[in-house]
Amino acid sequence: MATMEMSTGTGPAVAVALAVAVLTWLWKTMVQLVWRPYAVGRALARQGVRGPAYRFFVGSGDEANAMRAAASGEVLDWRCHDVVPLVLPHYRSWMSRYGKVFVSWSGSTPTLCAGDYDMVKQILSNRTGLYCKTELQPNLLALFGKGLAFINGDDWARHRRVVHPAFTMDKLKMMTKTMAECGQQVIREWEVRATAAAGQRSVQLEVGKQFEELTTNVIARTTFGSSYKEGKEVFVAQQELQLIAFSTINSVHLPGLQYVPTKMNVRRWQLEKKVRGTLMAMIHERQAAATKEGRGYGNDLLGLMLEANAAAGGGPTSMTIDEIIDECKTFFFAGHDTTSHLLTWTMFLLGTHPNWQERLRQEVLRECGSDKEAISDGDALNKLKLVTMVLYETLRLYGPVSMIARMVTADVNLGGVWVPKGTVTTIPIAILHRDADVWGADAGEFNPLRFRHGVNRAAAHAGALLAFSLGARSCIGQDLAILEAKTTLAMILRRFSFEVSPEYVHAPMDLLTLQPQCGLPVVFKLLDQ
Ligand code: HEM
Ligand SMILES: *[C@@H]1O[C@H](CO)[C@@H](O)[C@H](O)[C@H]1NC(C)=O
Repeated sequence: MATMEMSTGTGPAVAVALAVAVLTWLWKTMVQLVWRPYAVGRALARQGVRGPAYRFFVGSGDEANAMRAAASGEVLDWRCHDVVPLVLPHYRSWMSRYGKVFVSWSGSTPTLCAGDYDMVKQILSNRTGLYCKTELQPNLLALFGKGLAFINGDDWARHRRVVHPAFTMDKLKMMTKTMAECGQQVIREWEVRATAAAGQRSVQLEVGKQFEELTTNVIARTTFGSSYKEGKEVFVAQQELQLIAFSTINSVHLPGLQYVPTKMNVRRWQLEKKVRGTLMAMIHERQAAATKEGRGYGNDLLGLMLEANAAAGGGPTSMTIDEIIDECKTFFFAGHDTTSHLLTWTMFLLGTHPNWQERLRQEVLRECGSDKEAISDGDALNKLKLVTMVLYETLRLYGPVSMIARMVTADVNLGGVWVPKGTVTTIPIAILHRDADVWGADAGEFNPLRFRHGVNRAAAHAGALLAFSLGARSCIGQDLAILEAKTTLAMILRRFSFEVSPEYVHAPMDLLTLQPQCGLPVVFKLLDQ
């Protein structure tokens, strides 16, 4: 009724306003979807940067999807380490057609591939905020929280100052014992199973699952110390939330649907409440322990973070409790799958290179002693030069993170190319790590010795290994990850010899992190003591 009354008097004015609004919207949309991509594409082409054609609305998405679909189901020979055709097939194809630096289209957003180390260095070393993190999908942001990995500018600097003290080497070394205890627990179980296998003293295990469990335990204990049991429950809840988020990532998002009490939403709310409630209670307990009982905040990541935060005095340089909670979530999200897959790929390479496996075993026995001696400090691990070289080579060929991205926040001259504001630059780590111009003619081969003079002298560029990224925003947990990997490998090597099972299918797949599509079955043989 109301609309009918309205149409008599104010009708024409409303119609005109409506028409203007629609036309403005149409105009803006056309500029965004037609004119701008065309103009930017032309400007880049004039500078010699070419790429797949922009198609209305979908950009180069269809072409990329077709190449991804063609690559899915492909399997590599286990001696082949070139994962790019499986992981970034569209990039491989475009690069061969247009060169190391090319432009593609994510919808109407120009995406500049920085496939050149000079350009990468310029992006990652710039501290002015010109290249910031791209925005996360809302449902993923809700899941991961606004932790270090996703924030920009002053917020990022404030968080990083508070979080950094927890990750210094002297603090991490104190966590070695905890890591070794977690490792021991897993390895004992393998021993029991190998011993139970009558006569042969060997057992086949899918190590991906094993390492997932191990790295969850380690991150729960390094983050939450003695309250790790509740901490682990938080992480298990987060894992389920992650599954829920991924399962809905490609479905249609009706506005308001997230408030409807569907079965999945109810479960999500339960889990979110549990995560926040448990973390909140833990933090209050620590604060009480430190301020009322004089016991200190604790020597785990949470405690060290709270201590640094208390030192910031609650002023504008400190973090709120909700921000601390988000950092705890970030440690799990950023530090758990990554480290687990690093271990898995290292086992793959050692399981297929028995000579290297034996060299590493000798080194571990020499520096850390036999299985009877506990690994309790980082100093012995520091002497494991060959183990370190193998870990770097694994990070080069099978680095868990295949690609990172930055958004350009103002027009900029990037390596001689004028790049307009709003462009996304991608850094295809998996491709750069195989650049023969930088790594040499044997770039495609497993050759840990390239790192014998250190990580910065392995290639023609000092910062060529990008597995943890470079510069101010490089991985804050890299020393923790390496320490954990070394501890675990040392313990495995002195107890077992192992080989990759013939059942293994070499099909690396990128699901946020690079992993073997069907896991990694490994046959372990107990060594005589
Ligand atoms: C092998 C294991 C790991 C790999 C390969 C890895 C890789 C990376 C990479 C490539 C980045 C940069 C991302 C970007 O620029 O978009 C990053 C950032 C980050 N990583 Fe890791 N990571 C590992 C382990 C860990 C661990 C164990 C933790 C924490 C416990 C952690 C916490 C973080 C955080 C908080 C950031 C964001 C840092 C910032 O922006 O200031 N990572 N990691
Ligand atoms: C960051 O990039 C801008 C634009 O290219 C440049 O003017 C500035 O000097 C760079 N800053 C650093 C620290 O590299």
